[in-house]
Amino acid sequence: MNKASLLRPQSTTRRQLPVTTRQLLRARFTPSFPASTSMFPDSTVPRAVLVFVVISISVLLLYGAADSLRFQSSSSGYSFNIFPSLRNSNNGDSKLSINDDGDDDYKLEKVLKEAAMEDKTVIIATLNEAWAAPNTIIDLFLESFRIGQGTRRLLNHLVIVALDRKAYKRCMESHAHCFALVTQGLDSHDEAYFMTPAYLEMMWRRIDFLRSVLQMGYNFVFTDADIMWFRDPFPRFYLDADFQIACDHFSGNSSDIQNRPNGGFNYVKSNNRSIEFYKFWYSSRESYPGYHDQDVLNFIKFDPFIEDLGLKMRFLDTAFFGGLCEPSKDLNLVCTMHANCCYGLDSKLHDLRIMLQDWKTFLSLPPALKRSSSMLWRVPQNCSLNSLRRYDSPEKSVQQSLQQ
Ligand SMILES: *[C@@H]1O[C@H](CO)[C@@H](O)[C@H](O)[C@H]1NC(C)=O
Ligand SMILES: *[C@@H]1O[C@H](CO)[C@@H](O)[C@H](O)[C@H]1NC(C)=O
Ligand SMILES: *[C@@H]1O[C@H](CO)[C@@H](O)[C@H](O)[C@H]1NC(C)=O
Repeated sequence: MNKASLLRPQSTTRRQLPVTTRQLLRARFTPSFPASTSMFPDSTVPRAVLVFVVISISVLLLYGAADSLRFQSSSSGYSFNIFPSLRNSNNGDSKLSINDDGDDDYKLEKVLKEAAMEDKTVIIATLNEAWAAPNTIIDLFLESFRIGQGTRRLLNHLVIVALDRKAYKRCMESHAHCFALVTQGLDSHDEAYFMTPAYLEMMWRRIDFLRSVLQMGYNFVFTDADIMWFRDPFPRFYLDADFQIACDHFSGNSSDIQNRPNGGFNYVKSNNRSIEFYKFWYSSRESYPGYHDQDVLNFIKFDPFIEDLGLKMRFLDTAFFGGLCEPSKDLNLVCTMHANCCYGLDSKLHDLRIMLQDWKTFLSLPPALKRSSSMLWRVPQNCSLNSLRRYDSPEKSVQQSLQQ
């Protein structure tokens, strides 16, 4: 949920925001805005704080926009310098020239084929520069696979889709299956500010990319890199569903469309229904201009077109697919834990590290103690609501978030 974590300090000057906070707030407070308040019970939070938090979160959602994509500012601001060196073939670095021949589909097909399971399923994660830095999200993500139960072998099926050059370089150093997602039509010197058409285009690019993976006949599990994989999730997936997605909050009923899905984790089977669904989702960005993919999913999940398609959609139980919004209660059951509902990259890293320590502690318990299910997560800590309270105005919190 927390997009703010994507935003890094700019090394020197602070860039002027392209749109004022007020404009953003106005734009955001449409009646259909998701009920972010549900995670903060009224009884425990003074009303003023609650209002402030809702506003802040809305702003954060808007600013951080892509829950799942999480573009991060690079040192040059919110620019997407789309692989300048990947596009120039003669820079002498063959490793960075992967997509230079322009035949991206061929390259993608090759990477997918090498990583796929026997039934043509791949695990896909996207990675950007900030999350690729040493000793940060990507390291925790890969470590979770190595220490999880039955997850180490899944690394053979994980494709890391790098969204910028540094992320690609880091992937090539630390992982076997890497793909550089090049965005056509954006000049490498163009800068894509938040919520500008270029920015939204980049966020939506992921949906379009995943559609192309489906069209190549591959099923996928898409995972954000701030999701720790502690157990093999496949035994927990529904066999009959086309599209299944994790939730910030789970209603208790996996078919209930009122669930609050989180686009950071989903499992999609490649078939005509899912391909048509992804096309519909992608094209719906035009019906809801200014919204990112997760918001639009929350609009279109009610659309009769989905029923007409026959798409079977299921929402995954947080008992298995938990997060900081709603942690998996039983460490005997947890498959994945997402650092959602988290504000700021430092807080996210802090809590993810504790989460990994908790998991290691759990693994070291004697069997009887494990079974007693008495162990609880020590998170969220810095990712809690309290971390928002230091900021005394939404405007300020936007500034703060941009400096995270
Ligand atoms: C779960 O939700 C579906 C769709 O809303 C509904 O048809 C079904 O009756 C619900 N099941 C339970 C056990 O409430
Ligand atoms: C998709 O539909 C077409 C015809 O509309 C059919 O020929 C094809 O086999 C279907 N593909 C799958 C994967 O179901
Ligand atoms: C986490 O929270 C504690 C207590 O508020 C604070 O001292 C610490 O600096 C925070 N750490 C990070 C990485 O934000």
